Amino acid sequence: MSPAPPDPRFGGLPPPSDAECAHSARVVAHLVHAIADEEGWISFADYMNAALYAPGLGYYAAGAHKFGAAGDFVTAPELTPLFGRTLAVQLAQVLAQVPDGEILEIGPGSGRLAADVVAGLAERNALPARYLLLEVSPDLRQRQRELLSAQAGVLLSHFRWIDALPERWSGAVIANEVLDAVPTRLVVRRGGQWFERGVSLDASAHLAFADRPLASGMLGNMAQTRFPEGGDYVSELNPTAEALVTSIGERCERGLMLLIDYGFPAAEYYHPQRDCGTLMAHYRHRALADPFWCPGLIDMTAHVDFTAMARAGVAGGMSVAGFATQAHFLVNCGVLDVLARCGDPQAAAYLRAANAVQKLTSPAEMGELFKVLALRRGIDADLVGFREGDRSHRL
Ligand SMILES: C[S@@+](CC[C@H](N)C(=O)[O-])C[C@H]1O[C@@H](n2cnc3c(N)ncnc32)[C@H](O)[C@@H]1O
Repeated sequence: MSPAPPDPRFGGLPPPSDAECAHSARVVAHLVHAIADEEGWISFADYMNAALYAPGLGYYAAGAHKFGAAGDFVTAPELTPLFGRTLAVQLAQVLAQVPDGEILEIGPGSGRLAADVVAGLAERNALPARYLLLEVSPDLRQRQRELLSAQAGVLLSHFRWIDALPERWSGAVIANEVLDAVPTRLVVRRGGQWFERGVSLDASAHLAFADRPLASGMLGNMAQTRFPEGGDYVSELNPTAEALVTSIGERCERGLMLLIDYGFPAAEYYHPQRDCGTLMAHYRHRALADPFWCPGLIDMTAHVDFTAMARAGVAGGMSVAGFATQAHFLVNCGVLDVLARCGDPQAAAYLRAANAVQKLTSPAEMGELFKVLALRRGIDADLVGFREGDRSHRL
């Protein structure tokens, strides 16, 4: 039988099921109400927040599969357990300096990374007293519980879910691909005038971008100091992500915050040639430029400005302990030794693991675009993950 022709309504993308279309229609109705409630215009951050996190509706807060081959994107821990086991090398070094230290993972997704990190720490006799998980999505919380109940065995009692950042923490905070999912504002400079790009309804009552003059204040100051000189320009600014990093820093008694994501230092992020920003949507492993295509079924992200995150951590009382590409960080932490322990190099399982390590470290895949930023307070700065290739000076 020949394959069915692509459905033109979905622009060549794999067509969603009728149930998925109905779900997206409910998300759109929710957004239309939200826009009407705000007199016809909401910021892009409000749009992204609702489309990703509205309870029972948003992409992360309803049933979408999301991670892995059957989902929309693959993150490092979904690719291979070696990612978490290698991260455990850095975490073990920190926990050795912080008696009674805990790990706090922000945005644990499916729970895969938590399972692998704890297994890696157990192998090194470096288990923390507790592994805390902070997740905004009830749907993902449930999935994390199911995965960890099935896989963590006797270590299950180490995991505890929390609803908000703890007042104080010691040990390590980890966030893999979380900051890119924090709702972002959009700012436009056009013809020398400044605008905030938000979301409105067009003449056909469809969701559409709408620009309105940028009020003076925090966002305007951020744009004017960060955007490069020159002509028309669009980019993202993420005060919410910065506030999250500052807040984690302020609550740190002693320990390390590890932020892993795709992104650049400010000079590359706000490069004159990157004049359309980095906003992107994902659906079934395709990158889409249109964030209004089937809201509720698509992920939305923006790259991370690591200079802003480093400054946000410093504003919270931490200092920069390292900034490296994911490739450097993983190799420094001994990912190749972890791979070498995967058994017979001729066996299929070893070859799969080697392929995954190649993907995590290759400059053409995740090795260069993904970075690791480390912020510390009260611990030794000679961190194993940053011994070679530290690029803190570029922040
Ligand atoms: C792209 S997923 C990454 C999941 C996982 N860390 C991984 O690497 O597979 C983003 C995750 O961050 C969560 N998230 C986003 N903003 C958050 C916040 N402010 N606090 C806690 N979790 C958040 C999402 O619900 C989701 O679990």
